[in-house]
Amino acid sequence: MSFMELANNRQSDRAFAAQEVSRKDLLKCVQAAQLAPSACNSQPWKFIVIDNAEVLKQAGEAISNNPLGINKFAETAPVLVAVVEEPATLMPKIQGKVPSNRWAQFDLGSATEHFCLQAAELGLSTCIMGAFNEEALKDLLGVPEDRRIFVMLAVGYPSGTIRTKVRKELNAIHCFNKYDA
Ligand SMILES: Cc1cc2nc3c(=O)[nH]c(=O)nc-3n(C[C@H](O)[C@H](O)[C@H](O)COP(=O)(O)O)c2cc1C
Repeated sequence: MSFMELANNRQSDRAFAAQEVSRKDLLKCVQAAQLAPSACNSQPWKFIVIDNAEVLKQAGEAISNNPLGINKFAETAPVLVAVVEEPATLMPKIQGKVPSNRWAQFDLGSATEHFCLQAAELGLSTCIMGAFNEEALKDLLGVPEDRRIFVMLAVGYPSGTIRTKVRKELNAIHCFNKYDA
């Protein structure tokens, strides 16, 4: 698969086939995330992979019990992943000059996308979820009080087909040499 095909195949899926996902494949997704770039190579991430039936049930409920009332489908995902923001250790010459978490969200986004692209290459579906009950999930998963869960991921085998992407026009998102309003 070319990179463009892979980027096109990665899509947010909100329904999954009744097929188990192997830990081998899940670990490969984490390995892909491990390769992501991060500011000062601080790698401020931890992926909590949830594949135990009882924990899954409770995590699915904690996701769907969010103030926006979305993500009910999380209760049907064969695997859920909590992407946790860890403290970033910046290079000594930068430390103290910028907040240590200045670039952490960018880093977590990159790592999360690596995870999702690797999943797509393995024929797995993912959905990144920003809406969830963070406190309930932190309690359930034992995440320390001073850490944040950045996003949750639903992972499973697809039950549908690849959709056409809805995106802004190429011309609207780029220009050369000067900002073009
Ligand atoms: C940070 C982030 C948070 C998101 N949160 C949710 C969410 O809570 N629920 C959901 O169904 N999709 C969520 N999405 C998925 C987006 O809706 C989706 O990526 C976008 O519509 C583009 O569609 P595609 O991923 O299929 O290409 C989120 C995506 C990102 C990157």
